[in-house]
Formats: sequence, structure tokens, C-alpha cells
Amino acid sequence: MGTRRIAVTVDGVRYTDDVEPRLLLVHYLRERLGKTGTVVGCDTSNCGACTVHLDGLSVKSCSVLAVQANGSEVLTVEGLERDGQLHPVQQAFHDNHALQCGYCTPGMIMQSIDLLGDNPDPSEQEVREGIEGNLCRCTGYQNIVRAVQDAAQKMKPGASASQPAAQSVAGGGA
Ligand code: FES
Ligand code: FES
Repeated sequence: MGTRRIAVTVDGVRYTDDVEPRLLLVHYLRERLGKTGTVVGCDTSNCGACTVHLDGLSVKSCSVLAVQANGSEVLTVEGLERDGQLHPVQQAFHDNHALQCGYCTPGMIMQSIDLLGDNPDPSEQEVREGIEGNLCRCTGYQNIVRAVQDAAQKMKPGASASQPAAQSVAGGGA
């Protein structure tokens, strides 16, 4: 089967590549672009560990083909930092101890940012519903919910945007 040419912007950088039509977006990100902060946690489209933003909306990148991202903008957890500062949601996950093994964290953060884009001040129940497609085997979710609500407060217009020095809660790893 022949390859197809795609042009896609990932974390602000434009790439043009020839890919197999069946190549999953998550494998394109990890194996072709080296974006190993986005991880694979299942083979059933269940866990959400692979969540990225595609044109601003969260998607499970194991359920999207790379060719479907042609012409689009993809944002991964690796593209969240600005000027060495963690994104407020990353910072809140750190501050609220919302990760243990960290495997779910990249996807959880990307999903949470999408959730807060839709609902800037979610209730506990709304956070739980918003992240129900993302599984965490470690934390029991309580601190994750707390982190998302903390981030919501910090992201409110007029809230102090000051953040301590960046620390790596990008999570996951290779
Ligand atoms: Fe994509 Fe689990 S790896 S949902
Ligand atoms: Fe381990 Fe969530 S912190 S799976």
C-alpha cells in the first residue's frame, strides 16, 4: 500500500511526512516525531493516556489516523510550557499531588485543559464526568479532581498567573 503525504503542525512546528494510511496518530507522534510524552496505555481506546488536542479538542490519538490530522494542529503535553513555565494545569497537578506513577498524567492534563475550555469553573461532579474517559490506576482521582478545580481558580481572569519554576510533570516518558 502506498504512503500518503501529510502536513501537520505539532506543538507549533509544521511537519510534512509520508505515512502509511493505517498509521495511528499516536504512533506518528511517538515514533516519527519523538513525542514520547504522549503514551499508549491500552489497545482498546479506553484509557485516555494518549489524549492530545486536535484543532483544539481532545482526542484519543490511538483512535485517530495520522492522515486524519492532515492540515490540522496537534497539541501534545510537550507543547504546553511557555517560556519555561508550566501550564497552570500542569502546575496544579504538581501542587495537588495528582500523579503517582504519572502514566495517565499527559492524557489527563490534556483532557482537563479541554474540559476547562468548555467549563471554566466545573463542580467536582463535572470534573469527574469530564475526565471519565481517562483512567488512573493509582490516585483514586481525588487529587486529580482537586488539581483541575485548583487550576480553574488560577486560570480565572484576574487570578495571579505567577508560577514557580518549571518542574517536569509532563509525565509518562518513553
Ligand atoms: Fe489511547 Fe488507551 S492508548 S485510549
Ligand atoms: Fe498512575 Fe494515574 S498516576 S495511572
